[in-house]
Amino acid sequence: MLKDALKGKLSAKELNLLRRSFDVVGDIAIFEVPDELKKKEKLIGNTILELLSNVKVVAVEQGEHKGAFRRQKLKVVAGEKRLVTTHKESGVVLALDVEKCYYSPRLGSERLRVASLITPGEKVLVAGSGVGVYPIVLAKHSVAAKIVGVEINPVAHKFALQNIKLNKVSDKVQAIKGDVFKLKLGKFDRIILAMPTFGVKFVPQLLKFAKNGAFLHVLDFAEESDREAPARLLREICEKKKRPCTILGVIKTGTPGVRRLRVCVDVKLYPNMFK
Ligand SMILES: C[S@@+](CC[C@H](N)C(=O)[O-])C[C@H]1O[C@@H](n2cnc3c(N)ncnc32)[C@H](O)[C@@H]1O
Repeated sequence: MLKDALKGKLSAKELNLLRRSFDVVGDIAIFEVPDELKKKEKLIGNTILELLSNVKVVAVEQGEHKGAFRRQKLKVVAGEKRLVTTHKESGVVLALDVEKCYYSPRLGSERLRVASLITPGEKVLVAGSGVGVYPIVLAKHSVAAKIVGVEINPVAHKFALQNIKLNKVSDKVQAIKGDVFKLKLGKFDRIILAMPTFGVKFVPQLLKFAKNGAFLHVLDFAEESDREAPARLLREICEKKKRPCTILGVIKTGTPGVRRLRVCVDVKLYPNMFK
């Protein structure tokens, strides 16, 4: 669609360089421009504005997600000069700053998948909960009794508090600001490690929060040729820590690079073996 609209404005070679897809978060379109097209980003931005009436801001990615907070620098090239918006995912309303907080609309179906696995009354921990999307989607779409989200980025945490109110889930969801590995939080039936840059290697630091028989969902990266690698490592880690487990599955949740996958390793710790 975008390529069609740009025919006549860009050369055939330039059209070929253009990425096929881009994310829209709330009313902000976020797209990647290869170096060769930098001079055309305003033109591309204005074309997106003309094409999509729901888009009011067009921003261009300035490199990868970086640092502990996984933020990505953005440059507004067309439309209103702002990076704060309100996005809807699975009926949940999320206020956020797309530059100061991590959020990906591409993980929406993965969040619903985990929601569908929860059994009545569960207490769930989300490590790295960002603007609160995981906890709030779980509160709306699962039978969990309580969901605790921990987030280290103070800006994302502030939006999480706002989003809990916006979605009227304060009876079920608690947002805590801090380093999840350093806090005392009690025990949980299910733990989601939503920080793939940490991944399975950091599970030992979360096992103290896991009840006997708890479920873990650990996001990590894997090579396409060996997507089971994080699961094998996780099994070893759990055994070493005397919390043996069963691997329930390795689910592909995205393709962040060439032949590279983001996966979620689903695990059940063996029940009643160790106190
Ligand atoms: C990949 S993002 C996921 C955010 C959110 N769950 C989502 O899906 O949109 C990882 C998040 O973990 C947070 N984070 C990083 N280290 C952390 C830590 N030690 N304790 C708590 N949160 C952390 C980052 O600030 C970031 O918001």
